[in-house]
Amino acid sequence: MPKGTYYFPEHFLWGTATAAAQVEGRNQNSTWYAWEKEEGRIVNSDSAQVACDWWSGRWREDFDRAQAANQNAHRLSIAWSRIQPEPDRWDEDALDRYREMLTGLVSRKMTPMVTLHHFSEPLWVAEMGGWENEAIPDLFAAFVRKAVEALMPYCNLWVTINEPNVFAYGAYLEGNFPPGKQDLKTAVGVMAQMVRAHARAYHTIHELQPESRVGIALNVRGFKPATWSPLDKLAAKIYSNLFNEAFPKALKDGVYQPFLRKEQIPEAAGTQDFLGINYYTNELLRFNPFAGGGMFATGSFPKNTALSESGDIANIPMGLAESVVWGNKFGVPMIITENGIDDSKDAIRPRYLAEHLHALWKVMNGNYPVEGYFHWTLVDNFEWERGWSQRFGLWELDLETQARIKRPSAELYAEICRTNGISADAVEKYAPDAMPALFP
Ligand code: NOJ
Repeated sequence: MPKGTYYFPEHFLWGTATAAAQVEGRNQNSTWYAWEKEEGRIVNSDSAQVACDWWSGRWREDFDRAQAANQNAHRLSIAWSRIQPEPDRWDEDALDRYREMLTGLVSRKMTPMVTLHHFSEPLWVAEMGGWENEAIPDLFAAFVRKAVEALMPYCNLWVTINEPNVFAYGAYLEGNFPPGKQDLKTAVGVMAQMVRAHARAYHTIHELQPESRVGIALNVRGFKPATWSPLDKLAAKIYSNLFNEAFPKALKDGVYQPFLRKEQIPEAAGTQDFLGINYYTNELLRFNPFAGGGMFATGSFPKNTALSESGDIANIPMGLAESVVWGNKFGVPMIITENGIDDSKDAIRPRYLAEHLHALWKVMNGNYPVEGYFHWTLVDNFEWERGWSQRFGLWELDLETQARIKRPSAELYAEICRTNGISADAVEKYAPDAMPALFP
């Protein structure tokens, strides 16, 4: 039997994704610094104050690792709270540090993709009312102007806002992100503010760098009805609209339309050059008026689906392909800006990785335009309210010693990046349990 390889297109971007607050450490000006100090906010009272120690320079060794593992791109975020620690002060040293990091990527022949807002802001922004403040689009645009002016010699691929849906609902509905509010109406309003802030950032970046490509990274979660009940169907439809659809639709036609609300935001029309998709899992929904927190459904995963260590993520590779088919309606190319699983023992990750990339390969062969894939993540990092309890890294992090320990998935991904494809040899060696699905 000949052994096959599923090849990806030439110049496909292969990388990992990270975020400042999760890897850098030593930042006292960010909302998460204050948040982790509050009792009960983070699992096990974990801290991000050292994290992966990038701010002290360990980004160098991690970029070396990524380069040696054949990655040709890296997605990172820069911290607004470092660049503008006070309303009237720009920190040139912080900008220099980011310049160095981006030069570090370019010199390693890795294409940088920079996220401008990834779940955290300066404390002074929070004190002024955060995303509920009317002025936030202007404040954000001023920061974006400063950051892009400094960094555009090294980067032309920008993500304005990471997962505006997860952020707005986490921070203003579920209350597990700062500022910890719990109100659906506020969360929906914050999303509108984020549409405006994105639009301002988009136009600012294009004014400074006409050749740039600007988009968002959206968490896309396929919601399916758990049963044939019309109420479950309705719940899935409403959740899909609120969570997946409302934001990117507004960037296409300038109309923000979550469920029963409709708002014209004309400056947002046509403000995405690509759609970044963060896909982790699909979910089944059952209508439940007592779900709490202003929501009306409870989620579950299909029976007999392998789950991640924490149980938060189910291995549903076709969901990635479905999110690409769904995303195509916005009429721009797509980039998988995140995909991964928490798995400290690397028990399921090799299979998850191989099967998701195979699903991606299949949908791309149906002519859906996808330009790259960023695995979440390079080295275990601080998982927000879940602290260090979830481990998403291709490399394990020993928090005591800062040692990085390579997981088998890192070898598998390195082979995929090297060959620009998924070979039977690599799958047989590193993810044998994916063989029946990939190479029957
Ligand atoms: C998506 C978020 O963008 C990222 O910050 C987070 O760590 C991963 N999901 C995994 O939970």
